[in-house]
Amino acid sequence: MTAKILDGAALARTIRGECALRAAALTKAGTQPGLAVILVGESPASAIYVRNKVKACAEAGVRSILDHLPTETTEAALLARIDELNADPGVHGILVQLPLPPQIDERRVIERVSPDKDVDGFHVGNAGALMTGAPRFVPCTPYGVMKLLEHAGVELAGAEAVVVGRSNIVGKPQAMLLLQRHATVTICHSRTRDLAEHCRRADVLVAAVGKARMITADMVKPGAVVIDVGMNRIPDGPNAGKLCGDVDFDGVSQVAGAITPVPGGVGPMTIAMLLVNTLEAAERANAAQQAAPAKA
Ligand code: GUN
Repeated sequence: MTAKILDGAALARTIRGECALRAAALTKAGTQPGLAVILVGESPASAIYVRNKVKACAEAGVRSILDHLPTETTEAALLARIDELNADPGVHGILVQLPLPPQIDERRVIERVSPDKDVDGFHVGNAGALMTGAPRFVPCTPYGVMKLLEHAGVELAGAEAVVVGRSNIVGKPQAMLLLQRHATVTICHSRTRDLAEHCRRADVLVAAVGKARMITADMVKPGAVVIDVGMNRIPDGPNAGKLCGDVDFDGVSQVAGAITPVPGGVGPMTIAMLLVNTLEAAERANAAQQAAPAKA
């Protein structure tokens, strides 16, 4: 079997086009959507992610503010900057790129972002809303995966879904979203006994572990839908430095029914969904402003 390729780049283009129309309508109504992106330090990978996010904003007509702060930034300084952005009515979304340097407590930073501007969906209020089945902002990567599955017409009700990885950014919210669509969900992680056995049961397998090519063909049920969230650099050999996923694409694509490529699968969808969340935030702010009584 040769798997169908789930083209995240193409779907992301469509979604970004829709966002551009929404941004233009809001701007015409007097509210240009605005996203603030904070990058602390000099991680080359984070710098690339942030650059791509800012570029996507520009293409969609969303105003972006990029704050690049030095590695030695204190937690107090970062929290003070977040307070300013929380209070700025021209900023509808705030994203603090993770990971942060060790002197900064990530959780305290995440909780300081106003839940109404938390376009990452990481604030405990938004995570709780997702958990209890009334999501407000959904984390961008798992949200993008759900859009890809929906677009491909994958039946989730009653399906066995296995998520490999339990991070707050991907694994846990991914499991909640699949559960909400009535899949039977298993979350696997580094202490899972017999990972391969769990994976082989999956009708839908989501790999989000950050280990190059660790999901191999023998771990995949024939015909399964395989979603690769990994973004790894090949450490050595003739392709050293090249981007690869958590899934051994060449082998698994011979067994799976459908598979996302790396690059061009989940990655572009993450950025598209960040725009969707930012538009959502701006539209809500605009509606609240329209509904508010005029100030004397
Ligand atoms: N680092 C890796 N993925 C993400 C993400 O989706 N949002 C933020 N803020 N940081 C990340």
